[in-house]
Amino acid sequence: LLQSPLAFSHALLKQTVHAGDSVIDATAGNGNDTLLLANLVGKDGRVIAFDIQEEAIAITREKLLAAGLNDRVDLQHNGHEHILEICPDSESISAIVFNLGYLPKGDKSIVTIPETTLKALDASLNVLKKKGMLLVMVYHGHPGGKKEKSAVLDFASALPQEYFNVLNYGFINQKNDPPFLLAIEKR
Ligand SMILES: C[S@@+](CC[C@H](N)C(=O)[O-])C[C@H]1O[C@@H](n2cnc3c(N)ncnc32)[C@H](O)[C@@H]1O
Repeated sequence: LLQSPLAFSHALLKQTVHAGDSVIDATAGNGNDTLLLANLVGKDGRVIAFDIQEEAIAITREKLLAAGLNDRVDLQHNGHEHILEICPDSESISAIVFNLGYLPKGDKSIVTIPETTLKALDASLNVLKKKGMLLVMVYHGHPGGKKEKSAVLDFASALPQEYFNVLNYGFINQKNDPPFLLAIEKR
């Protein structure tokens, strides 16, 4: 009955994102979330997907082409800390997804880091629409992962409750650093 954090994240996206919306995948990686988002926004919607690795951009492009959904996705081979340069309009985006950590099956030494992650999360709250959802899957088993986990938890816990609902969803009795989901809804 209890959904995994990733499945819960996808369930929240399905409820939040509607046809014609603009959304952001801040860490395209293997393109799974980008593909889901591209389906949810429909032909009149737009996905902006960031990744700093050419490999991730290429894998994501292939997935989108195979599904015939590449037209509605703007692939940015760029760091998500540049969100405001690419997407300057405040309150214009209905959902933003982050998957922290390294690219599965890729180079494990290339990971998200606290400085750029926090800058991007801050910018994300600015571009997020009211009732929009910022979803952060926190993978923290790698070197540096604990530091990023605590930085992100500090950031999310300090958000004023008049403006944001903040949920921490994860299993607390699992071994091997299980990932968890932070879901931040703008009120
Ligand atoms: C956990 S993976 C993403 C998994 C992806 N959501 C999927 O469905 O496969 C994290 C990704 O973040 C990327 N990344 C690391 N730092 C970044 C940054 N500053 N801006 C954008 N992407 C970054 C990595 O290259 C890696 O591909």
